[in-house]
Amino acid sequence: MRTTASFIRLTVALALLCGATSAMKTLGQTAESKEARNERMRWWREARFGMFVHWGLYSGLAGTWNDKPVGTKGGMEWIQFYVKADTDTYAQKAVPLFKPAPGFAKEWAKLAKMAGCKYIVLTSKHHDGFALHNSTVSEFDAGSVLGRDLLKEFTDAARAEGLRIGFYHSVIDWHHDQYEYALSKQLCHPLQGKPYPNGKRDHADYLKFLHAQADELVSNYGPIDILWWDYSSQDFEGDAAWRAFDLMAAVRAKQPGIIMNNRLFRNEAAGWKSMGTDGFALSIDNKYGDFITPEQHIPATGMPGLDFEVCMTLNTTWGYSAHDHAWKSDETLIRNLVDIASKGGNYLLNIGPKADGSVTPETVNAFRAIGEWMKVNGESIYETTASPFPYLAWGRSTMRKGEQGITLYLQVFDWPADGILKVPMQAEIAAARLLAAPDANVTFETASAHTVLRLPSTAPDKIATVVRLDLKSAPEVDMSVKPPAAK
Ligand code: GLC
Repeated sequence: MRTTASFIRLTVALALLCGATSAMKTLGQTAESKEARNERMRWWREARFGMFVHWGLYSGLAGTWNDKPVGTKGGMEWIQFYVKADTDTYAQKAVPLFKPAPGFAKEWAKLAKMAGCKYIVLTSKHHDGFALHNSTVSEFDAGSVLGRDLLKEFTDAARAEGLRIGFYHSVIDWHHDQYEYALSKQLCHPLQGKPYPNGKRDHADYLKFLHAQADELVSNYGPIDILWWDYSSQDFEGDAAWRAFDLMAAVRAKQPGIIMNNRLFRNEAAGWKSMGTDGFALSIDNKYGDFITPEQHIPATGMPGLDFEVCMTLNTTWGYSAHDHAWKSDETLIRNLVDIASKGGNYLLNIGPKADGSVTPETVNAFRAIGEWMKVNGESIYETTASPFPYLAWGRSTMRKGEQGITLYLQVFDWPADGILKVPMQAEIAAARLLAAPDANVTFETASAHTVLRLPSTAPDKIATVVRLDLKSAPEVDMSVKPPAAK
């Protein structure tokens, strides 16, 4: 009897389980619950700051072709396209120049750590098609050319500094002989407009290669936290271009916790409005990816409730160029970080190392300056949420809701000459202090609709001084204080 009863229980349980499994299958990408997604995204949302690394064959060319600068502005990781070189000509020139020093990634990881980055995303393959790992499905890779697995060296170095790890992987490929570049008018290719050099191509073959190489990335390097796909066009995207949903599902099957961006697609539901680098939309259906990727632009009004990451360069190129000297100031870099955090997003700040892996003094100085600021003021960035204010004339704000109550951070860019800072809110303040000068006297009073803070007459930090306010209850923000209308 006992056997029969447990047999029936088992059969019923199995039937229920099968039902559940097929329901999950039908739901496909959307099967993840909101809670599970929040849990998966948690570290990324708390991190707020990561380092991007563009490094590959182009780094050795350094923006120079046939002894001439290709330009002083713009992404020199695109040099093959700019000079319209076929892959053999490009490789002939670039491969001998690409000489990664032993331990090349240790400096990046240390720099990232020093600056307060929580994660680091490296180009495993850029558009030129050269893979930095030891790939069994390619001969255009570091394994074949240098006898090294540069991704292994990179992941070891990043983990040693406690950083989360991401791979940027280009789905565009200017090397592969089956990549059918004629299928898209919008995606650039050095041979665009020219016939395929060796007759017919079969894009399906390229896709087999792309999927196999992506599988190597998520199989051979331990836990990978981010896959940063790049990129698609309105006329070539998603399933038709990359078998995107299969690709994402296969990656997720190997790395259930991984976070992926939205660049396998280029449609409005996926968070894209147009082809411009500022062409992001203000919403995303997460079946297309976990986060929106504004490039070189900070969304003016933020993206309430959305996961987004603004990627930006230190000068104007992603890959190293010896000719680009348009370095952003420390003030711009730090205020960008603050601005993005105040809008609820992440900042992915790029370095373009040279062919040996070393970085320019400007790069070191910039990351050092951010690190110094973060050491004092990092608590106003990490684990915070977006500003509750529609607009603050003198700076930005972030907020943290903890068990002890609400903490409001005010990052003051323009220090008031009379030391009087007007905050458009009413709030019960328990304590107020400056992170950069904890002993400085800060007093507060609620005057009519607004709170008034009396600060020291000079700013302890000229770039952004942070006022920390511990509140007894949620602030009542004056929502009528809006940004001035754009001219
Ligand atoms: C673009 C560029 C590329 C760069 C990337 C970073 O897609 O093609 O060179 O890697 O943006 O966001």
